[in-house]
Amino acid sequence: MSSGAPVRMPRLNIDRRTQLIEATIDVIYKDGLSRLTLAKVAQQARLSTSIVNFYFKTKEQLLLETLNAVSQEYEAAVDQVFAQSPDPTRTLRALVDAMLDPVLCTPARAAVWFAFMGESQARGDYIGAVRIRELAIRQRVETLFTTLFQEAGDTKANLGHAAPLARAFDALIDSVWEQSMLEPDTIDLAAAKKTCLDYLQSVLPLGLDMSDGSDQDASIPIAESAGTGMLSAWAYTSNALHELEMSELFRREWMLAGHLSDVSKQGDYLTLEVGSERVLVVRDDKETLRAFHNVCRHRGSRVVPKSQGNCGHVMRCPFHGWTYSLDGRLKSVPRLQTFESLEVSEHGLVPLELEVWQGLIFIRFESGGEPVAKLLHAIEERVASYRLADMVSLGEASVSEVGYNWKFFHDVDNEGYHVPSAHPALQELYGRSYRDDFIGDIPVSTGTVDDQPASAWSVARYKSLLPDMAHLPKEARRLWLYFGIFPNAIIYFYPEKAGYYMSLPCGPDQTRVVSREYGLPSNSREIRAAQYLSGRIDTLTGREDDALVRWLQEAAGTSVFPLNNLADIEAGVLQFHQRLKEKIPVMNCRHAPTAESMMDLNDRLKASAAG
Ligand code: FES
Ligand SMILES: [Fe+2]
Repeated sequence: MSSGAPVRMPRLNIDRRTQLIEATIDVIYKDGLSRLTLAKVAQQARLSTSIVNFYFKTKEQLLLETLNAVSQEYEAAVDQVFAQSPDPTRTLRALVDAMLDPVLCTPARAAVWFAFMGESQARGDYIGAVRIRELAIRQRVETLFTTLFQEAGDTKANLGHAAPLARAFDALIDSVWEQSMLEPDTIDLAAAKKTCLDYLQSVLPLGLDMSDGSDQDASIPIAESAGTGMLSAWAYTSNALHELEMSELFRREWMLAGHLSDVSKQGDYLTLEVGSERVLVVRDDKETLRAFHNVCRHRGSRVVPKSQGNCGHVMRCPFHGWTYSLDGRLKSVPRLQTFESLEVSEHGLVPLELEVWQGLIFIRFESGGEPVAKLLHAIEERVASYRLADMVSLGEASVSEVGYNWKFFHDVDNEGYHVPSAHPALQELYGRSYRDDFIGDIPVSTGTVDDQPASAWSVARYKSLLPDMAHLPKEARRLWLYFGIFPNAIIYFYPEKAGYYMSLPCGPDQTRVVSREYGLPSNSREIRAAQYLSGRIDTLTGREDDALVRWLQEAAGTSVFPLNNLADIEAGVLQFHQRLKEKIPVMNCRHAPTAESMMDLNDRLKASAAG
C-alpha cells in the first residue's frame, strides 16, 4: 500500500457484482485470503452459490476483480486529490484527509490490501494491480516533496532528502492502515491524521500552508534555513524530545557506572542517577558485582544513600530499616507481623543488567541489543596495553550541573576543528598532530604530545615531566587517546592515566557532567606529577568548552540557528547526529512536532524504517 486510499464505490442495490465484491472484502477480513471460498462469499452476500458462479466463474476471477476494485478506488481517490489543487502543500494535506477518511480507511479494506500485497510477490497478475499502481502514486508524492524543497530554495544536498522523506510519509500512512487492520477497536484516525500532518509540518522546508484555517497548531515554528543533515534547533530545547531520549536512548543503551576499583571489596557500592532512575552497583559476598534499582521495595527510599561507600554485609534502608542481602534478596523486615500479607521472598531489589568491559562497569535498564563487549570489540586491542582493569581510582568522581542540552556537550566534544582556536594549551600540547577518526562506528581522537616549547605552565611542565611508561608500546607513550562511547560517554587514555567523562541529561537544557580518572598503582612521583598536570590541562580545557557549549545552547534559541556548515574534520558531529536519528527518527524533523504527537510519530517512523 502506498500514498492513496480508496474512495467509496457507488453501492447500487442492483449491482450484484459490487455486492459480491463487498462480500468478498468482508470474508477476506474475517477469514483471510487463503480460506476464502465461493460458498463463504455467497453466505456473506446472502445469495446462493449459483448466483456467485453466474457472475464469477472461478474464485480466482472473483479475487482479481476484488483486487482491481479496491485498487481502482485507491487510485481514484489519489487522482481526485491531485485534481483539486495545483498547490503541493494543499495536495499533501488533502491526501492525508482522503487516505485516512474513516469511511474509507476501514479494517476490512486494509486487510484486503495487505493480503494481496503479501500474495503479489508470487502472483504476476496481482503485481499489476498492487505494486505498479503503488509505485506510480509514490512517484507523485515524491514529486510533490521535491517541488516543495525546490521552491524553498534548498541546497542541492538537502534536495536529496526529499525522496526519503516522501517515502517516510508514505510509510506513515501505511502504518495507520496496518493499525486499522490490526487494532480496529482502538485506532484513532483523527489522532493519526494529526500525526501525519505534524510530520509534514516538521519535515517540509516551509512547513504546511495553514492559511486556509486548518486546525494545525500555529505555534509550530517554521524556519526556512532548517536542514536535514544536522539536528535542528528544536532538538536541543524540546521537553517532549527529552522525554523520548530518556525512554528510547538512556533506558536502552549501556550506561557507564564506574570502575571495578570503585567497588573492589565485599559491600562496596556506588550509585548512579540517569534521568529519574536511581541505580546501585554492589559487590556481594561471593565477589559478584550486581546492579539494582536503588529503590526500596517498601516505599521507595534510596537503599544506599551516598554516591559511593561500603554497606557492610547487608543493605539497610534508612527509612524503616528493611534489610537486603548483598545479592538483593529482602532479608528482614522490622515488625513483619504488622503487615497483613507481605511475601518477603518476592520483595527483593529489582535487578538491572550489568557488564564489565576492561574494568569499566556498564548497566542497562532494558534488555535487548548487543553486549558491551561486542559494541566495543573494535577498540579492545587498541586499549589492551593500558591495563585499564588493573587501574585504581585517582580520586572521587567530579560532578557538575550545567545549563545546556547534553547533545551540545558532545557536539563540541566530537570535533577537534576548534582546538587551535579555543584551546591554546591543548594546541601547544598536541595540536600539531591532533586528528579525529573512526574505528568502525566508534569515534577516536588522537594527539601526540610534542617536545616544542609551550607557554602554558602546565603544558610545559607536563611535556618535560611525563615519564616513559614502559608498559605501553612506543607509539602510545606520548599519546592522548579518546573514544566516543555512544550515546553519552568518552573514555580516554593518556600515558599516565585513563578515565571517562559523560553527560546525563536532566532536562532539555540541564545536564549533569560526571568524570573520573584512574591510574595503575604506582609510587612514582613523576607519574603523580604528570597525572596532576594533565588534570590541570583538562580542567582548563573543560572550562573553555563549557563556554562554547553554553553559546551553542543560546544559539538554539535565536532565530538564526545555523546548520549544515560542517567541515570534513567535523565529521564526528554529523555521525553523532546520524546515530541519534537512527535511534529516534523523529529527530529528522526540521520543525518540532507537537508534544502530543512526538511519541506516536516517532513510533510510526521507527516502524516504517524497520519494515
Ligand atoms: S522505604 Fe525502605 S524500609 Fe520503608
Ligand atoms: Fe573542546
